[in-house]
Amino acid sequence: MAAPPSVVHAGIPETLRSSPVAEIRGPGDLVHFYRELAGSAPLLVVTNREPVVWKGEEHFVLPPGGVSQTIHRLLCQVGGRWVALRDSGGPDLLRIPGGAGDPGYRLDRLEVPPALLDGHYAGFSNGVLWPFFHDETDRIGDASNVLGAYREVNRRVAGKVLDSLRDASSGGIRPRMIWVHDYQLALVGQEMRRMGGALPPLAFFWHIPWSAPAGGAPPPHWLFEVVTGLLAYDQVGFQTELYRDRFLDTVFSLYGSRASWDGETLSVSTAFGLRRLHPGVFPISVDPDHFRMMARDPAGRIPAFSLLSDCGLAPGTPSGGYLISVDRMDYSKGFLERLSLMEALYENDPSLVGRLALLQIAPPTRLSVEAYRRYAEEVERRSEDLNRRFSRGEWRPVVTLARSLDPSLLSPLYRLSRGCLVTATRDGMNLVAKEFLASQDGGSAPLFLSRHTGTAMTMEGLSLIDPADPALSARIVAQGLAMDRRIRESRNRQALADLREHNVYRWMAENLVGPLSSTRNEGTALFARPA
Ligand code: G6P
Repeated sequence: MAAPPSVVHAGIPETLRSSPVAEIRGPGDLVHFYRELAGSAPLLVVTNREPVVWKGEEHFVLPPGGVSQTIHRLLCQVGGRWVALRDSGGPDLLRIPGGAGDPGYRLDRLEVPPALLDGHYAGFSNGVLWPFFHDETDRIGDASNVLGAYREVNRRVAGKVLDSLRDASSGGIRPRMIWVHDYQLALVGQEMRRMGGALPPLAFFWHIPWSAPAGGAPPPHWLFEVVTGLLAYDQVGFQTELYRDRFLDTVFSLYGSRASWDGETLSVSTAFGLRRLHPGVFPISVDPDHFRMMARDPAGRIPAFSLLSDCGLAPGTPSGGYLISVDRMDYSKGFLERLSLMEALYENDPSLVGRLALLQIAPPTRLSVEAYRRYAEEVERRSEDLNRRFSRGEWRPVVTLARSLDPSLLSPLYRLSRGCLVTATRDGMNLVAKEFLASQDGGSAPLFLSRHTGTAMTMEGLSLIDPADPALSARIVAQGLAMDRRIRESRNRQALADLREHNVYRWMAENLVGPLSSTRNEGTALFARPA
């Protein structure tokens, strides 16, 4: 069933709730919607990672799939700028062409010296903020030596955005809004306001969970700064009501009676003056039709069959059954919990040994952070233990591919599986769950979804598991696999209908509608410069 309207529409101003946003189904609808509100005014997007990978000699490729590709496609069609930290070689400025007749956009790439980048990315963003907001308190690093790098990179990104707006060579641009993304860049808005000048509406999207304020314990010293940074935006989007409400609780715990909230607007009296902003709820999604098509396409199915055969999981053979999981090698994804779940599954029903393996697609990530390196080693050890204990001849219970796969291959792998395990201990949303459901497209393989994900909080009718309780989760998985096929198919059909309604294009429109329909004029200084 669709998420209740109160969840899905919570971020949209009252007057726009019956707007065409709810009818957006595809990229064409999104472009049309954007033009209706913004005319030919461009959009400016700011992210930590850039949307393309430079391959040399004016040649670049798009990384596979994901939200950044959806934003990329919109920008290609409506025109604008994208500011990001440089990930690969090539010039500081790349012109990304649009399709026939489309304006394309300019990518402004910020070069950051390696030591500074390390403090920002490995140090504060992924060594402090990520574990803090994923409730992994034991993994939080020392902030004192890396907070300065985070501030500095945020300041430089803000400077780059302002340079991009003013750039004389192109006569400057006047975007209708600026859209900044994620925990790596929380302070960019505030830094832009500090630097002064006229700014269009500033929107921000916080992609990861927001933790509940620790009752009794003093908040970490940096939290006030990060929260105050977020207050500089005109809109801050969250994945779920829970995260938005926790953010509000945090603001109240830090600002007390200097903060008030009327259900739409949060007002806070800060050292920078009175801030008024809209904290919205916009659950992110996928393009379900794209995944449905890819799941059927022989161009992906044929390589998927041969990949499975190479892994000893040939489709249609008695030993070819598998549950699939697809996650970056991140402790928040619950790899160890998943292995315990598989162990409990085999212990409870030994007949599954030799018939149902775990295929985990697990590309390494953030190896510059020690906690990630240690975790990857531990997962490898535990996978080997399980393989030693339950292997039968050539068959192994855990097959790991430590690389990312193109969605065109992933989608048939989802479709050919017996089910999908999502065991994240905390997750802002979890798009693998949505990709899997979309790829079922009439199939009956069930999704087993951690209740600690944004997807579990915003979609109904799914089989929820708790990675903290592998024994209970294993029983839920066994029951789900044994469930009548027609019931499983009908659940998947319902989920697909929900995803088609709440797709990624609509998510973008929900984020853009408030700032784009703001009555504030571009060119008007929205905030006085701080004293
Ligand atoms: C995940 C998170 C995003 C985050 C991204 C950064 O996808 O859900 O919120 O921005 O990781 O990944 P990176 O590889 O750049 O550290």
